[in-house]
Amino acid sequence: MSHPFDLSGKVAAVTGANTGIGQAIALALAAAGADVACIGRSDPVETVAQIGALGRRAAAIVADLSSIAPVVPIVAETVARLGRLDILVNNAGTIRRSAAVDFTEDDWDAVVDTNLKTAFFLSQAAARHMIAAGHGGRLINVASMLSFQGGIRVASYTASKSGLAGLTKALANEWAPHGLTVNAIAPGYIATNNTAALRADPERDRAILDRIPAKRWGEPGDIGGAAVFLASDAATYVQGHVLAVDGGWLAR
Ligand SMILES: NC(=O)c1ccc[n+]([C@@H]2O[C@H](COP(=O)([O-])OP(=O)(O)OC[C@H]3O[C@@H](n4cnc5c(N)ncnc54)[C@H](OP(=O)(O)O)[C@@H]3O)[C@@H](O)[C@H]2O)c1
Repeated sequence: MSHPFDLSGKVAAVTGANTGIGQAIALALAAAGADVACIGRSDPVETVAQIGALGRRAAAIVADLSSIAPVVPIVAETVARLGRLDILVNNAGTIRRSAAVDFTEDDWDAVVDTNLKTAFFLSQAAARHMIAAGHGGRLINVASMLSFQGGIRVASYTASKSGLAGLTKALANEWAPHGLTVNAIAPGYIATNNTAALRADPERDRAILDRIPAKRWGEPGDIGGAAVFLASDAATYVQGHVLAVDGGWLAR
């Protein structure tokens, strides 16, 4: 009997795989046995090399996800280069910080387009392929604490991540009958480029750390296990769930 977390023979595509949480997820999926299409706006050369060192195949796909133009080509290129597509991780995301009264249309569109609109249309392209192939599949969205809470000075980010949590449930309802699961991971406060501004502000840094029962910022590697779980046979009956990986933040 194979191990329930074994991903051997599976192919994953991970967006934003060049750095941070996406890179850690790509490496965790590869360590569990998957081959990985690493999608990056910057060339994910380092991630591809590390996956190769794990003995898995990796394909770099450079794409700007601020528009939906690349979504169908991403699925086609993954299948052409790695043979199939079983797991999609919508991780790429961006944030703009500004008081709500000063928020511009550009601050709104840049965040909602990448974090929510492209995540939906890439999921649609992947699901169309998985349903036609008939082998089922796993869709994993990277949500946020701001899928549950309001945040401060990040109106478009909160709207996008709360929308992504709702979308996760909506797609789970529609695609479960096709053997697809759709779930999300909601990271807590993780030390990446995305949170550099918060960590650089001593007051915000202290306030955040005071609330985290684990008493530390998360590391990108803290998120990998949840992705492997949701991608694996161990999670076959997990549907429409938003799994917090937050050192206890939401428990406070
Ligand atoms: N760090 C946290 O505390 C935290 C908490 C909850 C959720 N998240 C979410 O986790 C995900 C990963 O973020 P991170 O923390 O790892 O931050 P990060 O290091 O800034 O990574 C963000 C990733 O998204 C990519 N990306 C952004 N805009 C893109 C675009 N238009 N086209 C293609 N790729 C684009 C970035 O590419 P470039 O490197 O080329 O910019 C990068 O690979 C995001 O969805 C974020 O919202 C993070």
